[in-house]
Amino acid sequence: MSDLARPIDPKLDLVEEIARLKKERNAVVLAHYYQDADIQDVADFLGDSLQLAQAAAKTTADVICFAGVHFMAETAKLLNPDKIVVLPDLDAGCSLADGCPADRFAAWKAKHPGAYTISYINCSAEVKALSDVIVTSSNAAKIVATVPRDREILFAPDKNLGRWIAKTLDRPMTLWQGSCIVHETFSERKLVGLIERHPDAEVIAHPECEEQVLRHAAFIGSTTALLKYAIASPKKSFIVATEAGILHQMEKEAKKLGVEKELIPAPPEANCACNDCPFMKMNSLEKLYLSLRDLQPRLELPAHLMETARAPIERMLALS
Ligand code: 13P
Ligand code: SF4
Repeated sequence: MSDLARPIDPKLDLVEEIARLKKERNAVVLAHYYQDADIQDVADFLGDSLQLAQAAAKTTADVICFAGVHFMAETAKLLNPDKIVVLPDLDAGCSLADGCPADRFAAWKAKHPGAYTISYINCSAEVKALSDVIVTSSNAAKIVATVPRDREILFAPDKNLGRWIAKTLDRPMTLWQGSCIVHETFSERKLVGLIERHPDAEVIAHPECEEQVLRHAAFIGSTTALLKYAIASPKKSFIVATEAGILHQMEKEAKKLGVEKELIPAPPEANCACNDCPFMKMNSLEKLYLSLRDLQPRLELPAHLMETARAPIERMLALS
């Protein structure tokens, strides 16, 4: 149903209404750091992809409102087939998931018989169902390291994360050639200029960034790892190469602890806001309110797909 068909009373205080609806519905709001600040501020739990999957696996709520993108809400549904899972905007996709259709993935797999298939959580339920195990940026190295060295590994869909893990572990992997439209937007040329102007700043980067950006990073990690590193580090200034939404939580944490941090977003090549994920930013506080009010739009998946796609996620959770 379109938003026009679901009008919102303009006098409503959405933050209060969301709090009321959460209680009334016994709902939990899980949010990723790339969401707008106002969404992060109403969330019950904020985290990186692994922490959000773990929170979804543990929740006792009847309704999960997932403020993130489709594959994240889908993962929550796979882990909670009997719960209602809503996503404020069902069209919030992901370039990595979209760039790895299940039929092409299956054909790729068929060309590598006997290989162990590891998929980044940023993929569809259909691709998950065809995978041996799922990983996120925070546990990929640990899980890849469990695979016997003589076994070929297929890693999909993010070539940048795959290349970084392969290099870190000195473990060759056959990589699907996908990438994130946000993390490939950072310009090495502009980054170098920024480093020159801020000689005391440390570059911290998400492993979805391209190699030429990662090579300038003092620290590489998942969104939660970047947040923890920036806050715990004695350094004061950071150039942050990931989606800009994480800066809100870094600023909040720093303020809470009374530590001073200068947080500089890494520059995209074009003069644009392309370090904002257009998919993550499809959600809004209004849509989140509507999703709790109407319990729509819901994630629904066929039962047989949920069965097959759940197993590799549970394998990941057990190994994490
Ligand atoms: P993490 O939060 O797991 O680091 O993932 C980043 C991301 O791109 C989510 O889409
Ligand atoms: Fe997908 Fe990139 Fe957006 Fe994350 S930031 S949801 S990987 S497009």
